[in-house]
Amino acid sequence: MTTRSRSAERLERLRSHVVHTPLRIAHRGARALVPENTIDAFRKAIELGSDMIEFDVHLSRDGHPVVVHDDTVDRCSDVKRRFPGRSSYFVSDFTLAELQSLDAGSWHVEQLNLPAHERQPYLQLLRPDELSRYVSDVELRWFKSGNVRIPSLAEALSFFAETSILINIELKTIPRMYPGIAQKVIDQIKLRGLESRVLISSFDHEQLRTVRALDANMVTAVLTSDRLCALTTYLDAIDADAFHPGCYADFDTLGFGSVDGTLQLQHVSEVLASGRWVNAWTCNDESEIDALIRAGFSGIMTDYPNRFGPP
Ligand code: G3P
Ligand code: CA
Repeated sequence: MTTRSRSAERLERLRSHVVHTPLRIAHRGARALVPENTIDAFRKAIELGSDMIEFDVHLSRDGHPVVVHDDTVDRCSDVKRRFPGRSSYFVSDFTLAELQSLDAGSWHVEQLNLPAHERQPYLQLLRPDELSRYVSDVELRWFKSGNVRIPSLAEALSFFAETSILINIELKTIPRMYPGIAQKVIDQIKLRGLESRVLISSFDHEQLRTVRALDANMVTAVLTSDRLCALTTYLDAIDADAFHPGCYADFDTLGFGSVDGTLQLQHVSEVLASGRWVNAWTCNDESEIDALIRAGFSGIMTDYPNRFGPP
């Protein structure tokens, strides 16, 4: 069996869970509407008709996989108030119990209360009509209640086990290089029998080789903010199934930010022609989403899953 036919077989298993083409992928959940990388954000993404949810995993000080994006927890929690005077606020400075004692919701409402131009960049695009249509007052009160928590991977996967949605787990290793993170994540996926719904991606392609060595059937994706060449050869070499190119702000490698604004897709077309998936991250502009759909992408990640249209 060739690497391409193995890859086709692995992707086929995921395909039975796909509703839309291209895949509607909610980035860190529906994070423009709900505090990112929380169970609430995942629930909202499902309500909005997503096919797949992307989220990020780090390891706590006591070695538990946890769902957080940044290397540190200060942007999306009250950690500085709860643990003042620390010299650093890395995820790996805190035990799972400490991380789960943090308020992971109020910061989002504080952001929404700022003038748009003062918010974090992805929230500057949020329109008042979207907020009022997709987020209720009850939800806003919950987000600022102090009770929204950082999920452990175990909790997130238990939530997903009750759904039929696809899951993109991004292993965050650079620069923290968490020992054994791939093995721990795979163990938890298998514990819940979620293998046929998971795609593992990483900017650290060594992790993808580790995943492949640990499990011949896990779907993997090369995640990058570079415009790589000889991509199909590279995907063959590490036996990966998908390519996740950046199209967001300074990470745009597809041409949206180019001098003439023309999409430059030679590298992407080559991968699609080889039968692999190409899922772009992270597109929040409706006209750019349309351009990616017309260009034949397999999937599109967005912070605004409502912008794909009705579920
Ligand atoms: O997985 C795609 C995208 O999430 C990668 O960038 O920084 O948002 O994790 P980042
Ligand atoms: Ca990510």
